Amino acid sequence: MPEGGTTALVNIGSLVTNDPALGDGALGVIRDAAVVISNGSVVWVGRDADCGPADHRVDLEGRAVLPGFVDSHAHLLFAGDRSAEFAARMTGAPYSAGGIRSTVASTRAADDAALRGNLRRLADELRASGITTFETKSGYGLTVRDEARALRIATESTPETTYLGAHVVPAEYIDRPDDYVELVAGPMLDACAPFARWIDVFCDRGAFDADQARHILQAGQAHGLLARIHANQLQAGDGIKVAVEVGAASADHCTYATDDDLALLASSDTTATLLPGAEFSTRSAYPDARRMIEAGVTIAIATDCNPGSSFTTSMPFCIAVAVRDMHMTPDEAVWSATAGGACALRRDDVGRISMGVRADLVSLNAPSHVHLAYRPGVDLIDRIWFTEPTPKVDP
Ligand code: NIG
Ligand code: FE
Repeated sequence: MPEGGTTALVNIGSLVTNDPALGDGALGVIRDAAVVISNGSVVWVGRDADCGPADHRVDLEGRAVLPGFVDSHAHLLFAGDRSAEFAARMTGAPYSAGGIRSTVASTRAADDAALRGNLRRLADELRASGITTFETKSGYGLTVRDEARALRIATESTPETTYLGAHVVPAEYIDRPDDYVELVAGPMLDACAPFARWIDVFCDRGAFDADQARHILQAGQAHGLLARIHANQLQAGDGIKVAVEVGAASADHCTYATDDDLALLASSDTTATLLPGAEFSTRSAYPDARRMIEAGVTIAIATDCNPGSSFTTSMPFCIAVAVRDMHMTPDEAVWSATAGGACALRRDDVGRISMGVRADLVSLNAPSHVHLAYRPGVDLIDRIWFTEPTPKVDP
């Protein structure tokens, strides 16, 4: 893209704005559209025929354009490989939270350059799949030093950094988990809060219970962090209730959600973030997104990129699985991967294309966004426009 001035993206066959005031349906689709961007912001959206002059023109030749995907859940600070664990699962071994500890051992042994290199490689993969905003968590260090260094490195790549000291109880604390909870809510939080926007807890079988999760999330909130939670992935439980109680932006996984859980979510501003890659890669039953949508729950879709349960960086893959196996419509899945992700990160400057938002856009080698689900496994990303992230602290 040329530097400076205005750039008009013209001859867009189908534009998803996610603004119903601008176009058709919930996605606010405009046919034969144009978008003008300047200095990293959208400055005009409308019909191609109404687009005025601009300093530069890019002819999209009838392609579809949509907001860059917003990936609100990823774990990119790690070292090591768990492909053998995946292979064992595909011959019948179950997934359990305990596998996290093998990545913890590899991550602690890795130097900063290795962690930074892995993060950058995965961030490049995310971007190539059309993701222009991503969140990433710590959670594979589980010492004061290793959690803080993971988050410090994460701030170099994204402002959406999440402190997940409460991923599992590490091996050295296995006989005294309460001491670990106090470490996470005390000295580890003190060291990590300067590098984090969010705090998260894995509240599930083999990880932390609802009381521990509430305690840790509230400690984080007292330090100015915003809450999110891994809840109800492996079994039904109180994680979603804790999310709503503490006002979390998002409850993630929600694979085992009761009708009461869904009613609670629907009456709150907590988004349910579904992670199709996790059920796919652990060969687990999918959550029923149809039931959630009918209950009035706001849904985001995210990659959950991590070495254990979901080692994918492809949002189009997640969209295709959400449509095929979670029973979302293609329109719903595309909304959830863009505007839904923005809700889960409490952002109003990304996930849609309207005046004043960030100029984060993706064009497809396809005439419509429906092709993202219709053509699974095919790389349809044509071009990506995105504004560089602003780190929370200077790296
Ligand atoms: O979101 N559920 C907890 N954390 C990750 C998995 C982490 C791992 O297995 O390494 C998840 O699926
Ligand atoms: Fe996760």
